[in-house]
Amino acid sequence: MSDHCQRVFNPIRSFVENEIAFIPATELSDPSRPKDPINVSYGDPCVYKDFKPNPNDLELLVGGVGKYDGYCDFPGIPETRKFLKDFYTARGNFEVDESDVFLTQGCSMALWLAINTLAEKGDNILVPNPGFPLSKAIAKSQHIGVKEYLLLPHQNWEIDLKDLEGHIDEHTKAILINNPSNPTGAVFSRHHIVDICKIADKYKLPIIADEVYEDMVYPGLKFVSFAEVSTNVPILLCSGLSKKQFAPGWRTGWLVLNGAKGVFDQIKIGLNNLLSILMNSNTICMQNIPQIVDKDPNFLKGKMEKIEHRMEVLKENLTGVDCYEVLKSQGAMYAVILVNVEKFQDITDTKDFCVKLYKSHNVLCFPGECFGGKNFVRIVTCSDEVVIKELCKRMKEFYLINQKK
Ligand SMILES: Cc1ncc(COP(=O)(O)O)c(C=O)c1O
Repeated sequence: MSDHCQRVFNPIRSFVENEIAFIPATELSDPSRPKDPINVSYGDPCVYKDFKPNPNDLELLVGGVGKYDGYCDFPGIPETRKFLKDFYTARGNFEVDESDVFLTQGCSMALWLAINTLAEKGDNILVPNPGFPLSKAIAKSQHIGVKEYLLLPHQNWEIDLKDLEGHIDEHTKAILINNPSNPTGAVFSRHHIVDICKIADKYKLPIIADEVYEDMVYPGLKFVSFAEVSTNVPILLCSGLSKKQFAPGWRTGWLVLNGAKGVFDQIKIGLNNLLSILMNSNTICMQNIPQIVDKDPNFLKGKMEKIEHRMEVLKENLTGVDCYEVLKSQGAMYAVILVNVEKFQDITDTKDFCVKLYKSHNVLCFPGECFGGKNFVRIVTCSDEVVIKELCKRMKEFYLINQKK
């Protein structure tokens, strides 16, 4: 196996495959272990009953079969590129051109293209901690260094700007931001985005904006895109249908370059070179983008109301338990519970906490360690209200049994 492959490490996969799957059956057979599993770990909305794609989108998708079966231009179908160009020109500060739009297999491929085009061996990029481990894995597999800047849990998970700035050196090629965030569920204010852009501008660094959860904010809040705030900083915006259209299996995403005229000329050559070996993404799925994106805002609003309500239920039901603190999220589909492991007997960290909670109470959630952090667990807030209540009941019971005496 090549060195490139060996360097790939995904801590979420490793946790599931090496820690959870390896638990011997004998350790899961205690009669007091609940039979019905509670799985609040998967960041796939479709796993949860209420978070399937809009039925109208499905019809439009099927309508593409038989019409869009051939290859298309590698960066995507012209009508879809034009639609996204108009969408992001309207949303952002920059005039986006059709040649700035690249359709990809999910947001993952958009991130892969962006990182690989901007950086190479010896360079580094800045990524959030805690953060979704994908970008770090992409960079490390290519010998690109990764420097992790801190997010502040009690300041709405904003970036510690001093820490961010302190990591920049002459080899830094980009700052990667994820907003709204996985795993924190935070949504950055315009003011905070302005401050981040000021730092990027000072060091003349582009921002890779992972906005795959774009528009997924709780009712009454506003999502602000980096492309809408930046006046100077080149933004490589990565997004797609996986989350806001609840269709990750469609593997449909995009990379849109937002910047001053000419600033991306070399990058575009690089992206087209990479696409000439990857070819185009799924035509059936990308053809319906102009008919579905932003066409039914009430559908998404309804889902975000549900997600917010479930986060509130989680908060209500764990308030007052001194080892847990549920942080209020603002969007995406996550909430974070800070766990004070010091309060438990024989629990070393949150990875250990999650393994033991799974063994005794049949609850699966991901520990902070999967996201580069510690002392927290991430809860996917798409589960039914009854499931969230039962989750809280089991977490409280787990504490009662394992509390330090
Ligand atoms: C922050 C973040 N970025 C990117 C991705 C990958 O998105 P996609 O499934 O569209 O490749 C995910 C998936 O969970 C994510 O949470």
